[in-house]
Amino acid sequence: MRRLLFAANWKMHLGPEEARVYLKTFRARYNRRDDRDVWFFPPAVSIEAAAQATRERADLQVGAQDIYWEPKGAYTGAVSAPLAQQAGARATLIGHSERRHVFGETEADTRRKVAAALAAGLLPMLCVGELLAERDAGHTVAVVIRQLAAALGGTEGAPLSRVVIAYEPVWAIGTGRNATPADASAVHREIRAWLVARGNAQPKVVYGGSVNLKNVAELLAEPELDGVLVGGASLDPEGWAQLVQTAIA
Ligand code: PGA
Repeated sequence: MRRLLFAANWKMHLGPEEARVYLKTFRARYNRRDDRDVWFFPPAVSIEAAAQATRERADLQVGAQDIYWEPKGAYTGAVSAPLAQQAGARATLIGHSERRHVFGETEADTRRKVAAALAAGLLPMLCVGELLAERDAGHTVAVVIRQLAAALGGTEGAPLSRVVIAYEPVWAIGTGRNATPADASAVHREIRAWLVARGNAQPKVVYGGSVNLKNVAELLAEPELDGVLVGGASLDPEGWAQLVQTAIA
């Protein structure tokens, strides 16, 4: 049976005290289900508060939204994998489309970050996805495979099995538009095949981009989707608790 992953990307919202209040509400509203895990990606300053608020719950984990690849040093403003881990992070997003397109992160950067996360023992959630023009030109699969190869080329076997992929079409993020379940499923199938060919026998591939309470059941009814990565609809703890509890066919 699929173990579903519900990941909340808070982006630049919810400071430490707000994170504590949020998680108190979430825990009061979420009736734990044994077939699913819930990951929270707070801003770096709130990782410690979120990790403490989920401490004794193995099904609730906290991750960083980004890391820098050097473990320490004179890198003003950056947070390394070991620092995020000290604050309580167990995972990290890598190559989120906002990192790539707002902050100019390159594919070479994603490769260094994946390696740094794996070296430190953080679970990387690598985000991939095409721009609208790339989709319209029929290049979706080529772009996604290029991003996978750039970030993961050379990573095989056991380390590769620890990498989770989030497929997030860029045109679907924060726009209210999302891929149809069938479209998402077709891309997931390609991602899965790429990972299996390199020794990750049971890849975990989640979908993101305008996922909400209304569309989550239909998306997760597709067996290719192992979970969802959610921005906007994860910011309200009650709505998120409801979303995470959604019955999946
Ligand atoms: P969204 O964001 O759910 O607000 O579209 C998803 C993401 O950026 O991970």
